[in-house]
Amino acid sequence: MAERTGLKKGLTNYGDLEFSLFLRKAFIKGAGYTDEALDRPIVGIANTGSGFNPCHGNMPQLIEAVKRGVMLAGGIPIEFPTISIHESFSHPTSMFLRNLMSMDTEELIRAQPMDSVVLIGGCDKTVPAQLMGAASAGIPAIQLVTGSMLTGSHRGTRVGACTDCRRYWGHYRADEIDATEIADVNNQLVASVGTCSVMGTASTMACLGEALGIMLPGGASAPAVTADRTRIAEQTGTRAVAMIAAGMTPDRILTAQAFENALRVLLAIGGSTNGIIHLTAIAGRMGIRIDLDQVDAMSAETPVLVDLKPSGEHYMEDLHRAGGLTTVLRELRPLLHLEALTITGRTLGEELDAAPPPFSQNVVRSLSQPIYPRGGIAVLRGNLAPSGAIIKQSAAAPELMVHEGRAVVFENTQDMAERIDLPDLDVHADDVLVLKQIGPIGAPGMPEAGYIPIPKKLARQGVKDMVRISDGRMSGTAAGTIVVHVSPESACGGPLGLVRTGDRIKLDVPERCISLLVEQAELEARARQLTPPEPDPTLRGYRKLYLESVLQADQGCDFDFLLPTEFTDSVPRSKPSST
Ligand code: FES
Repeated sequence: MAERTGLKKGLTNYGDLEFSLFLRKAFIKGAGYTDEALDRPIVGIANTGSGFNPCHGNMPQLIEAVKRGVMLAGGIPIEFPTISIHESFSHPTSMFLRNLMSMDTEELIRAQPMDSVVLIGGCDKTVPAQLMGAASAGIPAIQLVTGSMLTGSHRGTRVGACTDCRRYWGHYRADEIDATEIADVNNQLVASVGTCSVMGTASTMACLGEALGIMLPGGASAPAVTADRTRIAEQTGTRAVAMIAAGMTPDRILTAQAFENALRVLLAIGGSTNGIIHLTAIAGRMGIRIDLDQVDAMSAETPVLVDLKPSGEHYMEDLHRAGGLTTVLRELRPLLHLEALTITGRTLGEELDAAPPPFSQNVVRSLSQPIYPRGGIAVLRGNLAPSGAIIKQSAAAPELMVHEGRAVVFENTQDMAERIDLPDLDVHADDVLVLKQIGPIGAPGMPEAGYIPIPKKLARQGVKDMVRISDGRMSGTAAGTIVVHVSPESACGGPLGLVRTGDRIKLDVPERCISLLVEQAELEARARQLTPPEPDPTLRGYRKLYLESVLQADQGCDFDFLLPTEFTDSVPRSKPSST
């Protein structure tokens, strides 16, 4: 039987499919559609607009433009809502909800009759959630991002969310600025709708979407409120129709080569450490494993080229003016798989050949003059992190890359909140701050609390950075010598849970090592003293599903039951290849 398309897809089976179609048409005609419109290929548009998500505040304009593009190409666009997640409006954390959004996206793509889908996301967790869902749903899918917000200005200094949020808050904590000034700053950090204006997780995921080839070339960088962004939306709608006839399903795009390209780009842009977790989760849906040790090997041969905060100086709108991700991809060309297919139907190499010529700019460096000589992200192992940990070395203090210090331990975020600013806290600038219970299960939802604030008494003495270690995440907009994603996490028996104040910890980034300098016998004795948490009889709903199913950071924090039955590939390959 021929595959059913358009309105005939996924009919509810009452035992008479023709009646099901008759009924479906009757209902959608209630919205004023004609038979001629309903006979066209259907492009679904995932609408993630929400009053609680200003990062998606341009959703109405984007949807209008996507619809125009779809109709110009002879399709019929039908938008549908899914969950929307904003970083600041998602309790307990946005990461807690990412997998729920991916399930929502997957099931609504599957349930509703669409021949292809435009995924409109932007804020940190939305793009990975949409790509995870679309990868599993399997119909032609194209990513559109809302685009970055504009930068603001505070007393003549350019500011943007959220690297400057943390920087100014640090000044305020150190009594360097007063309450009036911090309130003024608050009005300027987010100057328009759109996603954070630095190379945080949202910008990182936008770039990775383009590097994966599942977004139009040039689609990552245009700010939210520009004509460029609206034009990209229209072109995305047009392309979504062509992808139907071309059978451009995610398995043709999200290949091992595409993930290697994306990892290479993640390293070269000084991208967010969250990008590794999300790429691991998206790749996992395609049966592809991300090998952290090989990511580290790739990192060692990939310089950071993009001069954006928090690793550098500029903002996302500057990257757009500098030619967008194309400028980065052109520079990385010798290190990329140019034969990887993109949703345009052309390969990455063909797209680069067709791109506008390069011009002089100061945002993207050349391979020979990088902003940072090696990849921004290093993978650490050792007795403190047997399954790995991550540090964004491009945003860390060079003098702390090899450091041994005394552990000052906070048992959880509440303990930290209660004690970190106490005047009599026993802490010194060369200590190592340790925060437990903020892993995928511990918090739950792996909050971005890994950016442990510098204790106020030290901040007032001018201390700007310390070695900080946790099983949580850190915002892609944050900078500092911060070790995150320690796996396995403290809440499920990881050695981080055994650390006590006064222990010595050694960080050695060049040796890729993080060590708890305590005898093994002592650690075993401490482990025996731990009492496992009591089962919670009141646990219910999504939280129960989450706690019973979430995987660790090195496995992408996906739910175990959402992965395919087996992994068929692993990337990066042991010898990253050049093409
Ligand atoms: Fe939405 Fe930063 S809070 S992108």
